[in-house]
This record gives sequence, C-alpha cells and structure tokens, in this order.
Amino acid sequence: VTCRLTTRQLYAANLFLRCATRVLVRVARFEASSFADLEGAAAGLDWAPWLAPGVSARFRVTTRRSRLWHDKAIADRLTESLGSRPTGGAEQLVVVRAVGNRFTVSVDASGAPLHERGWRQATARAPLRESVAAGMLAAARWDPATPLVDPMCGSGTIAIEAALVATGVAAGSGRPMALQSWPCYEPGTWASVVAEADRRRAEAAEPPPILAVDRDDGAVTSARANAERAGVVGVIEWRTGAISDLLPPSSSGGPGLLLTNPPWGGRLSAAGDLRNLYATLGRVARERFAGWRIGVLVAERALARQIRPGLSEALRLEPGGRRAWLLTGPLGR
Ligand SMILES: C[S@@+](CC[C@H](N)C(=O)[O-])C[C@H]1O[C@@H](n2cnc3c(N)ncnc32)[C@H](O)[C@@H]1O
Repeated sequence: VTCRLTTRQLYAANLFLRCATRVLVRVARFEASSFADLEGAAAGLDWAPWLAPGVSARFRVTTRRSRLWHDKAIADRLTESLGSRPTGGAEQLVVVRAVGNRFTVSVDASGAPLHERGWRQATARAPLRESVAAGMLAAARWDPATPLVDPMCGSGTIAIEAALVATGVAAGSGRPMALQSWPCYEPGTWASVVAEADRRRAEAAEPPPILAVDRDDGAVTSARANAERAGVVGVIEWRTGAISDLLPPSSSGGPGLLLTNPPWGGRLSAAGDLRNLYATLGRVARERFAGWRIGVLVAERALARQIRPGLSEALRLEPGGRRAWLLTGPLGR
C-alpha cells in the first residue's frame, strides 16, 4: 500500500497497524542505467534526517528487469556514497527497489517487523504470525463486542490478538520503532500518538468472552505465558481439551465467532486422521455453536469441505510459503 502521510500519521501507522510488516518512508526516486548514474543520484541524497552520524545503513536491494541487476554491487556503491560510518553499531534498514531503470529508496520506520509485538516468546507447533491472526479476525469480520473461540489455539496467537483488540491495546504498544532513532524524530508528536493509544485503551468497552482451548497441555501453558506478557491472560478463558469435548465459553454473550487454524498435515499417512479432525470440528460447530459463525485457516479446500460445504473465501495468503485460505460462513441453527 502506498499513501501520503503526515508525520503524526506515520507514527500512528507504526503504532496502530495490526496487519502490516513494516512501514517504509520513500526518500528518493531516480533513474539509473549505469553505476555512474547510480553514484550521481546517491551523491544527491540527503541522509541527514534519517541517519544519525554514528548509525550505518543496511541496504536491502531488489531489482527487476534492470540494467543494474547486481544487488550487492548496488548496495556497495550506496554504502560508499555515505562516507565512512562505524561498523558493528546501530543500523538503519534502507530498502532499494529497481523496476527497469527506475529506482526508489525508502527508509524503514519500524525496525523489527511489526508482527513482532514482543509478547509471543513461547511457541507451540506451527505458530501463526501475530499479523496473520489479526488479519484473520478482520477478514472474518469479528465484532469485538461478541465472543471468540479458538478450539485449537496452539501458542494462543488468535485469542491473544482478539483480546488485545477487544481491550483497545495498540498493536505496537511498548515496543521500540526505528523512527525513534532518526535525527528528525519528533518526541512530542510520538508522545501525542502514544497518548491517543492510552485514551483508546482507557475507553475500551468490557471485553466479550474469549475462549482458547487446545488438547495439548504444553500448548496451553505456552499460550498463557504469551498472554501474561501481553497483559491479557485474565481476559481469556483457558481450557485443555480435545475438539470433540468443546463447549461454548462459560460466560454467555450471545453467538460469536469460532476462529481457528487446525493442523494442516503434510504427510499422506495422516490424511485420514485429518479428515476425521476436520469432520469433528464441523459436527461440534454445528451441534454446539448454532447461530455462531466459523472461520478456518486451511491449506486444503477439500479437507475444509469436511467441516461444512460451501464456506466462502475471506482471505488468501501464503504463510511460510504454503498457500492457505481463510474460509468463513454461518453455522445454521
Ligand atoms: C496449527 S496449530 C495452531 C497454531 C496456533 N494458531 C498458533 O498461532 O500458535 C494446531 C493446534 O491444534 C491442536 N490440535 C490438534 N488436534 C486437536 C484436537 N483434536 N483437539 C484440540 N486441539 C487439537 C494442536 O495441539 C495444535 O496446537
């Protein structure tokens, strides 16, 4: 997504965006079809707002159909254009992209990828990125005033993201951002964005019932530890149990969303087990969650038909390089 932002909006994008990986600020656009062109353009770049004297730049270069195609040679020329910088100290990521001979240069405002919120340190098997869990909640159109159940919660990513959304906690709260090290950083503007985040949190409504379950006790222990770090362990009801024993949350709150990321398998020998697991999820969902909606992240659409035929595609993505779909639909009464 490309857009024009004020400084305050740039800071807010870093603090509030739940699905983004990083926010880049475009600092230059030029044409170069030779190293002489590149060096000329690099000499005209003003790094003063972005790089403090003791900070070096790490250039990440990608090219497509360009006369200059040697990514490392391009990065080396750009590094040389900065003059001598200390090595081994703080680094600023600079993303350079060339399509044909058109170059864009952007500084990274985020630092560590934004899905690294800081709380997910314990992981169970095949954890989702926090940003993917947030994207699933949004694409499944979860209303944060209604209950949320993840019956195969693993390290708890979906339930914890839901609890953070419901309690009005900004995605990036408490973690540092690269933009805070820029010479042009405006601490007063950052403080006002943080104050806005604090206000949203203070004004958040009472969270709905959020239930996280897994049959693996170790997974539930990891999930609880993550939720503790995220400050929402008490917002979530925790249970250890198999999908076949799943019941709705203890406190009522009307129909909500059953949102989960079941195991995907991969070995042919496990295919029958997986079919049974998906069919059990479908049966339990229909029998005990009538009137709710379901959202499942699956890697095989044929398996998803075991849950319920006719679920519709809400999101298509490739976590970890494997194609996956979020399928959603109502659970009839
Ligand atoms: C792909 S992982 C979920 C990962 C999770 N979304 C996360 O971000 O960490 C699938 C989980 O389903 C659990 N599971 C498998 N079969 C189950 C069953 N029959 N009942 C309940 N949980 C089950 C596994 O223990 C595993 O933690």
